[in-house]
Amino acid sequence: MVFLHKIFQMKVTKIACIGAGYVGGPTMAVIAQKNPGIQVTVVDLNEQRIANWNHEDLSKLPIYEPGLAEVVAEARGRNLFFSTDINKAIVEAELIFISVNTPTKTYGKGKGMAADLKYIELCARQIAETATTNKIVVEKSTLPVRTAEAIKNILENNSNNLQFQILSNPEFLAEGTAVADLQNPDRVLIGGETTPEGQEAIEALVQIYNSWIPRERILTTNLWSSELSKLTANAFLAQRVSSINAMSELCEVTGANVQEVASAIGMDSRIGNKFLKASVGFGGSCFQKDILNLVYIAKSYGLNEVADYWEQVIILNDHQKKRFAENIIKTLYNTVSGKKITVLGWAFKKDTNDTRESAAIYVTSALMEENASIHVFDPKVEKHQIIGDLEYLNVHTSEEINQFLSIENDPYTACKNAHAIAILTEWDEFKTYDWQKIYDNMMKPAFIFDGRDILDVNKMREIGFVVYSIGKSV
Ligand code: NAD
Ligand code: UDX
Repeated sequence: MVFLHKIFQMKVTKIACIGAGYVGGPTMAVIAQKNPGIQVTVVDLNEQRIANWNHEDLSKLPIYEPGLAEVVAEARGRNLFFSTDINKAIVEAELIFISVNTPTKTYGKGKGMAADLKYIELCARQIAETATTNKIVVEKSTLPVRTAEAIKNILENNSNNLQFQILSNPEFLAEGTAVADLQNPDRVLIGGETTPEGQEAIEALVQIYNSWIPRERILTTNLWSSELSKLTANAFLAQRVSSINAMSELCEVTGANVQEVASAIGMDSRIGNKFLKASVGFGGSCFQKDILNLVYIAKSYGLNEVADYWEQVIILNDHQKKRFAENIIKTLYNTVSGKKITVLGWAFKKDTNDTRESAAIYVTSALMEENASIHVFDPKVEKHQIIGDLEYLNVHTSEEINQFLSIENDPYTACKNAHAIAILTEWDEFKTYDWQKIYDNMMKPAFIFDGRDILDVNKMREIGFVVYSIGKSV
């Protein structure tokens, strides 16, 4: 153990991160920016993604995040590297982050609920086969509680007397504000074993974060608390959105205004004012996946009431998306067949080009099933991605997508001759459009369905629009 003791006590000089996605890329860019003395190499199987991370033109980075290009420009080539040579990065690093995707399983036991851990296991096996020295392996991906046990098993059963310490260091960044969240996080969470070696490994990672984050904001726990805290945080956040969305429906039928209700309850310091924005439904790659995973874990321990409680957050979210689409159909005289409906916003929230689980996908699909002609404009999402999202849903044939979907490059063209507009992402620029001009060029009555409550309803009604805004009575 003396050998082990020494290894984990030493200062980390080289980091590898497996997975150059929405978490691995920005997180490692900030770690490299703040630790110029540490070499950080981010590796991925996806050659195109790595090529884009290395692109000279910073507007071609694979991820759009405010402030990210500046951080990459500062660190890339100095101590931040992007590569497809996974084995080399593993051999060189003393500390390896695993930041690969952990999607919901689409096959076998736990299909539609459990997290698919095949990418995590592949990483563990590759580290076990390739490593030639002891390593600290850090779970950065969001994982079911007790995954560290499986990773440790794989590592220890496959290598030649090497020692591994597994840490859990879940990431709490939100897309659209990732760089700010990483540079100034509410807290960093590190879980590890309670053995002396585990504590030394924790300390090695604490030092990396401590180069820019005050020590009191770096929380250390045991492994299982850390793994479970990540799922819990996402479940609580999503629950707030479903709670306010449930109230939005009640507001619409009672004459209350959901924004006023949110302000009134948010001023109670016990409740707080964040995550109380009623919407067409939450999207993103995390909330649904992580709650389903939590539900699955609870069920697997026989905790059915716990599972049912959290599942309701998803059920309400599905209901919110569905009722938004149904309201459009009902308001347009119960038929949207052949009508032009403009979708403004495809990303799951503003300031990101990520569209995973975006409400826009489901609302559009529901309208396409009614043969509406959908015209989409999003300031950051590219055409192929929008089409890919609908193909991935597996509800519409390619012919149907061709027939019913058009992607526009200009919002005014997108809205021209439309029967209705649906705002599905809260992009700031939507607020500044010349809405009089848009109204003048639409079919009458001109309907607008604001799924994000970003427009001034009174002003829009003065222009002549028939306005439906989430959580407000018509
Ligand atoms: P992502 O899909 O954007 O990126 C994952 C990357 O891992 C992909 O580029 C993929 O090619 C790569 N990869 C998969 N298997 C690999 C392997 N064996 N070797 C090398 N590369 C491999 O995913 P993401 O959004 O960055 O999420 C990663 C993890 O972080 C997930 O567990 C997610 O739940 C969690 N997380 C995501 C967010 C977020 O906002 N997106 C926030 C916090 C936590
Ligand atoms: C979330 C967590 O916030 C983050 O801590 C975790 O690391 C990853 O998952 P993200 O999904 O990127 O982050 O964005 P978030 O800001 O949480 O928004 C998620 C969804 O909820 C979006 O569709 C957003 O529009 C919606 N939302 C959020 C609301 O509808 N109302 C709100 O008040 C807040």
